[in-house]
Amino acid sequence: MIDRASPATPPAPAAAAEKPWGGRFDGPTDAFVEEFTASVAFDRRLYAHDIQGSIAHATMLAAVGVLSAAERDAIVAGLEAIRADIEAGRFPWSVQLEDVHMNIESALTARIGEVGKKLHTARSRNDQVATDIRLWLREEIDRLTGMLDRLLHALVDLAEREADTVLPGFTHLQAAQPVSFGHHLLAWFEMLLRDRERLQDCRKRTDALPLGAGALAGTSFPIDRALTARLLGFARICENSLDAVADRDFAIEFTACAALMMVHFSRMAEEMVLWSSQQFGFIELADAFCTGSSMMPQKKNPDVPELVRGKSGRVLGHLLALLTLMKSQPLAYNKDNQEDKEPLFDTADTLRGCLRAFGDLVPTMQVKRARMREAARAGFTTATDFADYLVRLGIPFRDAHAVVGAAVRLAVERDCELKDLSLAELQALDARIDERVYASLDVDAALAARAHRGGTAPAQVRAACAAARTRIAAA
Ligand code: ARG
Repeated sequence: MIDRASPATPPAPAAAAEKPWGGRFDGPTDAFVEEFTASVAFDRRLYAHDIQGSIAHATMLAAVGVLSAAERDAIVAGLEAIRADIEAGRFPWSVQLEDVHMNIESALTARIGEVGKKLHTARSRNDQVATDIRLWLREEIDRLTGMLDRLLHALVDLAEREADTVLPGFTHLQAAQPVSFGHHLLAWFEMLLRDRERLQDCRKRTDALPLGAGALAGTSFPIDRALTARLLGFARICENSLDAVADRDFAIEFTACAALMMVHFSRMAEEMVLWSSQQFGFIELADAFCTGSSMMPQKKNPDVPELVRGKSGRVLGHLLALLTLMKSQPLAYNKDNQEDKEPLFDTADTLRGCLRAFGDLVPTMQVKRARMREAARAGFTTATDFADYLVRLGIPFRDAHAVVGAAVRLAVERDCELKDLSLAELQALDARIDERVYASLDVDAALAARAHRGGTAPAQVRAACAAARTRIAAA
């Protein structure tokens, strides 16, 4: 037990006394601990939202009579001046002041005097930080959604242009059936449209106000949370003070949406990498999105899709980090939560970078239609259509499958295509085969035949493109 009266006890050092929470402390914070516990290096990024939240809080306090109008005005003017200082790069961020919240609050008091100390009435950093992150994330979701829309429109535009382009469709990465390249691009579109819906859904749960929760139990002042929510444009308030400061579900949900989006990007990227290789030769990426090799003069590497593919790893990691961060935390706020920001920030930054990269790259992708068509014809991709033709002659599908299998074996032996087999050779496999078999082997006919909704017929692809544009707006 420390004897506070003892002359042997050194006076409380200035450093501890200067902390906004320094009152109950005798000794200074260890210098390493100060660094270790500080978040200002990364949470200063929340400054605009912190100030926005503080202005709304002060406005509400004045409305309910906790602050006078003059006090509110001094606080608001002081906060706005601080915002200008930060934006001009002349704000002295201090690690000793731990985080963005205490840096700004201390600067406010230094600037406007005693009244600055009243801002934190009826508030804790716990409800303050939860509010800041939600404000920041809501804005970030809106920005990312705008970028996603740009990519979605780019995919639809390209799909429409390439509706008639024939591409080999793959299963097991083996040539399977011909598809419209536009149809393939619209498959990417569907993946990303679901991501858009998920983002919007996550936004709903982000859009709630924690302020008023105080440290955990609320406040004894007659606050008006609905007013604060209105001032900050929140759709609703968090209904339970403990949950308001403890909840980071919205951060996890956002990162989960982002992780799945990155998985989608990695699949698109992988196809771009494959397609731009010499072996496929289906597309050529614009020079602006590639780099060369320092040793091999012939190289043009698809760096941008490769990097997008690689960046999926860090976002998947951030999701696991946030889930693990929240797992087993007792209510309500714990300092652990300070670890939410870096994964969250990096997730948004990574997503933004990838959206920008693909949004720029997709419209400039050069499509090598002749090469795609040639590849679509190889590998007996219309064998199913041959079998379907036999079914229309009244042959059961399983028998038809066996007949075409035998025809493929023959063509492999001859090293030719199915259409190069003579009618006599085909009739030897089944006497009912007639001239019309050759029409069934045509790749364009194979595409056009799949003329139902969701099918790959160019007319369907064009209709799907038109519908896609209205679906973006509605998602
Ligand atoms: N920097 C802290 C965080 O990010 C702010 C809240 C701190 N609250 C506290 N009671 N220590 O979570």
